Amino acid sequence: MSADPAKAGATSTPGPFRVGLLGHGTVGAAFAELLAERAAEIERFNGRRPVITGVLTRTRGSFAEVLAGADLLVELIGGTEPAREYLLAAMRAGKDVVSANKQLLSQHGEELFAVAREHGVRLRFEAAVAGAVPVVRLLEESLAATPIERIHGIVNGTTNFILSEMARGSDYAQALAEAQRLGYAEADPSDDVSGRDAAAKMAILARLAFGAPVRLEDVRYEGIEQLRGDDLEYARELGLGLKLIGTAERREGGISVRVHPAFLYSGHPLSSVSGPFNAVTVESEAVTEITMSGPGAGGPQTASAVLGDVVSVMTGGARPPAPPLELPLLEDVESAFYLHLEVADRPGVLAAVTRVLEEQGVSIKSFVQRGRAAPDARSATAPDVRLVMVIHPLAESRLREALRVLAELDFVRSEPRAIRVIEEEFV
Ligand SMILES: NC(=O)c1ccc[n+]([C@@H]2O[C@H](COP(=O)([O-])OP(=O)(O)OC[C@H]3O[C@@H](n4cnc5c(N)ncnc54)[C@H](OP(=O)(O)O)[C@@H]3O)[C@@H](O)[C@H]2O)c1
Repeated sequence: MSADPAKAGATSTPGPFRVGLLGHGTVGAAFAELLAERAAEIERFNGRRPVITGVLTRTRGSFAEVLAGADLLVELIGGTEPAREYLLAAMRAGKDVVSANKQLLSQHGEELFAVAREHGVRLRFEAAVAGAVPVVRLLEESLAATPIERIHGIVNGTTNFILSEMARGSDYAQALAEAQRLGYAEADPSDDVSGRDAAAKMAILARLAFGAPVRLEDVRYEGIEQLRGDDLEYARELGLGLKLIGTAERREGGISVRVHPAFLYSGHPLSSVSGPFNAVTVESEAVTEITMSGPGAGGPQTASAVLGDVVSVMTGGARPPAPPLELPLLEDVESAFYLHLEVADRPGVLAAVTRVLEEQGVSIKSFVQRGRAAPDARSATAPDVRLVMVIHPLAESRLREALRVLAELDFVRSEPRAIRVIEEEFV
């Protein structure tokens, strides 16, 4: 044991590997339990037994004492402060750190990475992105030498559960209530359903994949609150299923990072991921496509990823983060879209819609027309029909302009709806 434990390097001292634990809630308590259960096995292959030497909560422990008595700190408090301050202090004291904190990493990642580099310590955060799915390790280690072109992720289990329920016929409010009843959604689910939680995770993944300093505020995101059950119903007829998808991709001249609901064809590896699960597809010319899926949350599942990070530090398996690269973030990217129009049921309407779309440079890939909608306030005098189509890729700005023109036509009975479609199938 070193004479000055506060300055001891993570792997330089013999004897137990001392872990300081910040936060003892859902994940922290599960982590402490798992570590105790697995300590002997870890010692067997690694030569050192991890032990928790100090715990800090709101009512228990002192940060200075936990820090002084640890080789490594695990931060499972959440939020930005005091978690940021604690992690910076630990790294400045030469300690390796592990965190599951997506808010912190997506908002202050560069500051944390810079301090880790400066002090030559490891900052591990597998559980911050997709819970137990080891996508951080895949990008940082297995694919470290592989240029990544694109990542698509279902990185929020709550919204994936809600969309799975909606696909089975529930409406949005029923599906959300069920997610809350089963403990998948928080009492305040706004970060999940607005797409903000997924945006934080995609910012972290984009930083890993492309080396560019992407922060949460750089990620454009849309949530699932506006989706309607009939969109899922019609899309099914076109062979499409709906997911909340995070995308981080290299495009000519820069990168694009965004989160939005998207339709997938059934051949896409993410289309079959249903319920409260996470999945990530990584695409690269060298490897074509790798998909991993599994539980994205839950105390024991997340704790398993955290303990994996601790073992990775103990075995010297990770490096301090690389310095950032400058890559422009692109705003206006091309997508294919699903369009849903409610129009008056009268002759010539379809031809008029097609003409407007052609004038706007929109080309239709597939199309269905379905019966009469229930009359609403705007359609009290004439029944409506629904025109549902998938259009070939075009820039989002051009799509917005086409929607504006369509909305002004006198036979269009409600705001046209557009949802992106991801076309790759990998079959
Ligand atoms: N829950 C999941 O399934 C999951 C999945 C992936 C990632 N994560 C991430 O894991 C982290 C922890 O989440 P959690 O669900 O375990 O949270 P939690 O149940 O709310 O636990 C938070 C813990 O931090 C302690 N804490 C809060 N503020 C503190 C402060 N100012 N000083 C010291 N301790 C403080 C709390 O103390 P008290 O015990 O005194 O209240 C509690 O022990 C978060 O970053 C979260 O995003 C969670």
